[in-house]
Amino acid sequence: MNPVHLRQIEAYVYRKFCEEGTGHDYSHMKRVASMACMLADREKADKQISEAAGWLHDITDDKLVDDPAAAKLELVQFMKDIGIKEEERSAIDNAIADVSYRYGHNQPKTLEGQIVQDADRLDAIGAIGIARAFAFGGAHGRLIYEEGNDQTTIQHFYDKLLLLKDLMNTDSAAMIAEERHEIMKGFLRQFHLEWEVMGESSANPL
Ligand code: ADP
Ligand code: NI
Repeated sequence: MNPVHLRQIEAYVYRKFCEEGTGHDYSHMKRVASMACMLADREKADKQISEAAGWLHDITDDKLVDDPAAAKLELVQFMKDIGIKEEERSAIDNAIADVSYRYGHNQPKTLEGQIVQDADRLDAIGAIGIARAFAFGGAHGRLIYEEGNDQTTIQHFYDKLLLLKDLMNTDSAAMIAEERHEIMKGFLRQFHLEWEVMGESSANPL
């Protein structure tokens, strides 16, 4: 694999995700790819495989594509067409296989997979993580917050986002996660303060 392959992968991802509106857009893929490359450097992993897998980690996700199996076949064909070797294709494939949080607390088997999972989780926390959570919540018609409602976007912070800091695979990601975690805690503190002050906690009028 060479830098030209990575630019071709970027263009492929751009075509697929440039209009995505739930926080899984091209810029998410770009940040995950850049973060994966940086973490790979620090953790002495394969930088090109990590970056490629960062770009492609959501390409067959069933919440983003209607037919994940078809997306997978298309991806394999694309990688063959641009001349990525079998051995590299399988390294990329392994790295993205276990990234998602939703399928349980998967521990990816390869270091590159662990790095891409960390990069994806880092993009779900901190200021950008906050923005993405509300983009996702809005796109799915969820309320920002309501007492006693466990389906709100604020609830998602307690269910998942505040747990991510302790789930990082690598020390390099765990360090970055600390600061982003504090940003979320500060945001939630202020959110609840403003909510209370404005009397929003009063009972449902019906
Ligand atoms: P994964 O692919 O790791 O399973 P998710 O499906 O959990 O990832 O989606 C990751 C992004 O979507 C995160 O930024 C997260 O905040 C957002 N997200 C997922 N579920 C919710 C939810 N119920 N409310 C708000 N944001 C959500
Ligand atoms: Ni992702």
